[in-house]
Amino acid sequence: MCQECGAVTSKWAGQCESCNAWNSIEEVADSAPQIYKTSRKISSKRIEFVGLEGTESLISGKRAISGHEEFDRVTGGGLVPGSALLIGGDPGIGKSTLLLQIVAALADKGVRCGYVSGEEAIDQVRMRAQRLGLEKSPVQLAASTSVDDILATMSGVGKEKLDVIVVDSIQTMYLQAIDSAPGTVTQVRAASHELIRRAKESGTTLLLVGHVTKEGQIAGPRVLEHMVDTVLYFEGDRGHQFRILRGVKNRFGATDEIGVFEMGEKGLAQVENPSALFLAERQDHVAGSAVLAALEGSRPVLVEVQALVAPTSFSTPRRAVVGWDQGRLAMITAVLEARCGLQLSGCDIYLNIAGGLRISEPAADMAVAAALISSLTSTSLPPDMVFVGEVGLAGEIRPVSQPDLRLKEAAKLGFSQGCVPKRKKKSGARNAGDNTSPKNSGSMTLYDCSGLSDLICLIQDMGHKSEVLQTV
Ligand code: TYD
Ligand code: MG
Repeated sequence: MCQECGAVTSKWAGQCESCNAWNSIEEVADSAPQIYKTSRKISSKRIEFVGLEGTESLISGKRAISGHEEFDRVTGGGLVPGSALLIGGDPGIGKSTLLLQIVAALADKGVRCGYVSGEEAIDQVRMRAQRLGLEKSPVQLAASTSVDDILATMSGVGKEKLDVIVVDSIQTMYLQAIDSAPGTVTQVRAASHELIRRAKESGTTLLLVGHVTKEGQIAGPRVLEHMVDTVLYFEGDRGHQFRILRGVKNRFGATDEIGVFEMGEKGLAQVENPSALFLAERQDHVAGSAVLAALEGSRPVLVEVQALVAPTSFSTPRRAVVGWDQGRLAMITAVLEARCGLQLSGCDIYLNIAGGLRISEPAADMAVAAALISSLTSTSLPPDMVFVGEVGLAGEIRPVSQPDLRLKEAAKLGFSQGCVPKRKKKSGARNAGDNTSPKNSGSMTLYDCSGLSDLICLIQDMGHKSEVLQTV
């Protein structure tokens, strides 16, 4: 069985035929079809259907709210009883720390929480709790790797019944009935299937931790994604302080929400104003830097888009992108060349979303185009200007969702100019060059761009102005 994708082959091969992973095929005992082999008589009965309306269900219980706003928002407003949540992420990114902090906060509120660690000994978890200042929390701690034991614990009744249980991590757990080693696809799949089923039966919220490894040494949690109700990814750069919790799938809430945390000496702290954090190291008056008013889920975030356009020394110019879509960059450069006559084909292009955030929305197009033009023409953009807009293949700038929310966030952070798609309703725009406009929120100077050519004119204007300033 391929340990990456779970495909079954009848013989060993160096490369999996279905997912092309190398060295991922391992011999496993034929345990799955056992259900069909038993001589036991299989009984079946008619299923009782019920109506859509009704309240007597475990799931309809109250959501457990931890009070860590960033986490609560990503989970769609708290943990749903009987649901299964998977947190994936690279080793060492802070999954155990996050979950310990969450269950401690829940336990302080009277929710019965259990934390089962399969990776660390009790003392290690206690040391971490001490470091986080959480040692007084009534969290029940255990070190175990046996799924059978955890299942027995989950079916406790009365005072013993747990409301929330953390299993850290699913790759260390094993079911006795399965012969494969812990961490193999068979084990991970069977163990989580049993845990999730028991969680649904008992109304306990199950929080699973899953490691993602590039080498595919242990099964990635990808095979689990369809089994659980909610999938969150904890991402971040170990070189950076902050971590992003991103909802990938959520049966009980929106999926595109993010939560931003900062890893410090005392664990993970919530970042209430991520924009300020992402823009902290920005340098003013550098060509190739544009600020984007992005929207992550329901919250506006300002990030810096950096571009470097330099003459190439290769026959095929390099296009390197960090934090954005390579295909989208190719499209923008093609539009700039074909519709606006810019010469980019002889240039290497490097694009970076500063701070390590990944942006996927098309509304970033205009900021990327502005950064590219700015770098190509060596014109620095005004430091107090934000860009937002989608670029079409004809070079037109299209409207984006929730422009007011984005601009409000920008105004809050002291930005006084905005470069936005042309709006249908004319509202006091096109007062270009008016730097004296007041900086209070809601009264930004807005430049309407209906096409990329407008943007280029605008940036050229800025270039002339700064030249005049320099000569003065
Ligand atoms: P951890 O939660 O063990 O990661 P995971 O469970 O995802 O493997 O986080 C470990 C890292 O976090 C480790 O490199 C140390 C760092 N850390 C801090 O910087 N501050 C803290 O207060 C704690 C508890 C950990
Ligand atoms: Mg851990």
